[in-house]
Amino acid sequence: MVIAGHQDGILIPAMDRLRESSGRLRGVRLLHTHLGRACLTGEDLMDLVFLRLDSISVLTVDDKGAPNQFQWAHLMPRNRDRDPYRVYDPVDWSKGGVNHQASVESLEKELGRDGDVHKDISAEGNALLVSVDTRSRKEQEKSIEELGSLARTAGLNVADSLIQRVSSINPKSILGKGKVAELEVMALQSNASVLIFDRELSPTQLRNLTSLTERKVIDRTQLILDIFAQRATSRAGKLQVEMAQLKYTLPRLIKQDRALSRLTGGIGGRGPGETKLELDRRKIRDRISRIKNELQKLRRHRQNIRSKRVETDIPVVSLVGYTNAGKSTLLNTLTRSSILAEDKLFATLDPTSRRLRFPDEKEIVLTDTVGFIKDLPDDLREAFMATLEELSLARVLVHVADASHPEVEEQVNAVQELLILLGLQNKPQLMVLNKWDMVQDEKKQILQNVFRDAITVSALEEKTLEPLVPALEGMIIKNEKSDTLLY
Ligand code: GTP
Repeated sequence: MVIAGHQDGILIPAMDRLRESSGRLRGVRLLHTHLGRACLTGEDLMDLVFLRLDSISVLTVDDKGAPNQFQWAHLMPRNRDRDPYRVYDPVDWSKGGVNHQASVESLEKELGRDGDVHKDISAEGNALLVSVDTRSRKEQEKSIEELGSLARTAGLNVADSLIQRVSSINPKSILGKGKVAELEVMALQSNASVLIFDRELSPTQLRNLTSLTERKVIDRTQLILDIFAQRATSRAGKLQVEMAQLKYTLPRLIKQDRALSRLTGGIGGRGPGETKLELDRRKIRDRISRIKNELQKLRRHRQNIRSKRVETDIPVVSLVGYTNAGKSTLLNTLTRSSILAEDKLFATLDPTSRRLRFPDEKEIVLTDTVGFIKDLPDDLREAFMATLEELSLARVLVHVADASHPEVEEQVNAVQELLILLGLQNKPQLMVLNKWDMVQDEKKQILQNVFRDAITVSALEEKTLEPLVPALEGMIIKNEKSDTLLY
């Protein structure tokens, strides 16, 4: 392809269909001329990174249009060099013969090895985690760890992470172009096609990022929504999640325009095409209002069902707790039913109910709820709360905490805060410290001092649940009168 530009730059057309796979080079070498003495510039190297070019070469041209010097550069695999690219010294143009084919072939082989190409060539599933924050590095690390668990729950493979501490967040662009370039190289080297930001990205930040990188960019909220979407089972749950997704997407609609300009400012995507966008927006708004209607109908229906349950006077006990605390496992072991229990965050979305019969034949309904999480993005609150409507009917809440988690106290507090938001702070609560089998001996006493009334269990071992059953039964009897019909 020959592109004629002008003194200030050239416009590189869309290269959409050329080799989309994230771990591979584009299959395009760019050879261009610079009018003047300067050889490869920083801008050229950015293009090398962002366009995933096989190589970039420059030929300087003197005043009379005669060729002068030749210089070229290519990307580097991980850890081989400090720089993500190798820039060769400029040589006289007549000595510029380079065996591009051989160099690209060996480079691709190496990139492939590093990115574990054998596992999945298209590597849709490899993700890079990115934290840009004003918080301390330690806090960022903790947060990114949780993001990693969320990513794994969503079915992604975490390839690498980048932590950037900043003094303030730029509302327009979350990362400077240089940092995005670094990220792009990391992604190329680790064969990652998804970048996950550990914070909510504003529409502008997202737009600016996607104008630079072709990789899929998502943030924490979208990741959680994605998990909700995968896990929602009931009609109402699915609708709630879809609505949250649509509401989230609406201000962030970007028409992906892959035309990449290399004008003075470097690469930049086009703005959204107004008409198409309007159309999509209208469709989305329509869909949102239809969902709202349907949800209202469903809510009325569910209230009926619940009223019936209260009328038959079977006490409801709800399991609540931070995500991954072991609620589903506990429910499973208690009821010997087999609902979803996996070592992934948010393994339960919709409240799932099971009947449980106490030794004295008294029956209860035990419901499992979606895991709580701190810093739940605002957009998700409604969807999340909707899945917890059931809790208002519970006679007792069983608060399950993962005692083996280093931040168990924080997690317990996060759950308590959400319960306050739900207006459930006065519900009788039975505290259960789970995963006791994994708690180190020296920590056991400390935890028991902090959570004085808690019952310690290991949901995986049925025997350890023995003290739980009478405690629960006692609490149900004590609160016999507190069942209130809130509807
Ligand atoms: P969400 O649905 O995400 O809120 O999770 P959850 O609270 O329902 O947790 P789940 O029951 O899915 O358990 C999470 C992981 O912890 C699973 O891998 C369980 O096997 C494990 N787990 C649960 N209880 C125990 C326990 O007592 N000891 C140990 N060692 N692991 C446990």
